[in-house]
Amino acid sequence: MRAARFYDQKDIRIEDIDEPVLQPGTGAIDVAWCGICGTDLHEYLEGPIFVPPAGHPHPISGESAPVTLGHEFSGTITALGEGVTDLEVGENVVVEPYIIADDVDTSQGQPYHLSKDMNFIGLGGRGGGLSEKIVVQRRWVHPIGEIPLDEAALIEPLSVGHHAFVRSGAKAGQVAIVGGAGPIGLLTAAVLKAEGLTVYISELSEARKAKARETGVADQVFDPREGDVADKVRELTGGRGADVGFECSSVPVVLDMLLDAVRPAGTIVNVSIWGHKPQVDMPKLVLKEIDLRGTIGYASDHPDTIELVRSGKIDLSKFITGRIGLDELISQGFDQLINNNEHHVKIIVDPRA
Ligand SMILES: NC(=O)c1ccc[n+]([C@@H]2O[C@H](COP(=O)([O-])OP(=O)(O)OC[C@H]3O[C@@H](n4cnc5c(N)ncnc54)[C@H](O)[C@@H]3O)[C@@H](O)[C@H]2O)c1
Ligand SMILES: [Zn+2]
Repeated sequence: MRAARFYDQKDIRIEDIDEPVLQPGTGAIDVAWCGICGTDLHEYLEGPIFVPPAGHPHPISGESAPVTLGHEFSGTITALGEGVTDLEVGENVVVEPYIIADDVDTSQGQPYHLSKDMNFIGLGGRGGGLSEKIVVQRRWVHPIGEIPLDEAALIEPLSVGHHAFVRSGAKAGQVAIVGGAGPIGLLTAAVLKAEGLTVYISELSEARKAKARETGVADQVFDPREGDVADKVRELTGGRGADVGFECSSVPVVLDMLLDAVRPAGTIVNVSIWGHKPQVDMPKLVLKEIDLRGTIGYASDHPDTIELVRSGKIDLSKFITGRIGLDELISQGFDQLINNNEHHVKIIVDPRA
């Protein structure tokens, strides 16, 4: 079968590799669509980061480069291993793409995503969505019912937004300010809107401001060059400020804006994975008793995220900005996202095309 394999920085090859073998406790999946993520771009441009470099096998997967890429994917079950009785051949699914030690409890509510040596399918080994087929442990497979398979490829990044929402403790009726409207900021905003919050977004890029408006994920979109965003948020909240803020830009001035824009005793969830250590204005945090929290990936978020899409509260089709085949991965996928990033939210790949 064909697969996109990461060898090293700027060295991704489309190759023919052996098909994965069904094992007890697993499901075999024909991949339908796989999204390209900012993380994949970082691996390509600056990596290996999550990918275990050649000669340094990951402690759980036992694999190192070359590895198959792709962690945002949907597909159809084609076979079930011994002991898997609660899925059906022909059922459409998404994968929660974790590589986590077998003895870690992954039941509802457990913080399994924080376990030692956690990595991701499609980065740390165990195959990936940028290939025709994959075999995955039962615990990571989530049925999606009637959700179209192309939209379902976006459930993984949407789950990142859902986990950020859960981490914030925000409730329906509250006000949120999201800093940065890239794929993660937009999908976080989509969850917040679907959960009944009033959502404000701050973004610089014209194309992304337009996307935030046209997808309906924001009640208002602000440009920090057109006036102080925190002032605007306060104006709209009777002087109080937002209940929750989400840092989705990895830009220090955005974190600073959020410290100004949230109300006293408000919460800021930092979603960004920073490439450098940012300065945090601690006096602002202290004097307003702001809670600044991290969020990574998802844990038991997939069922609720899938339900938001299945019920029609979130329409993921609006966030798909390109569809390509595997052979075009670099020319029409990575290169587009590197050079024409502002005009894209998600490019999805059909590994069979
Ligand atoms: N915590 C997690 O589990 C998790 C998962 C996936 C991605 N991430 C991280 O989330 C972050 C966002 O990801 P992305 O793919 O959306 O990134 P992105 O770079 O596409 O988006 C960032 C956005 O911020 C905007 N921005 C820049 N400066 C700004 C400013 N001064 N004011 C307002 N907006 C500004 C940019 O124009 C851009 O649209 C990244 O750091 C990524 O690594 C975290
Ligand atoms: Zn991703």
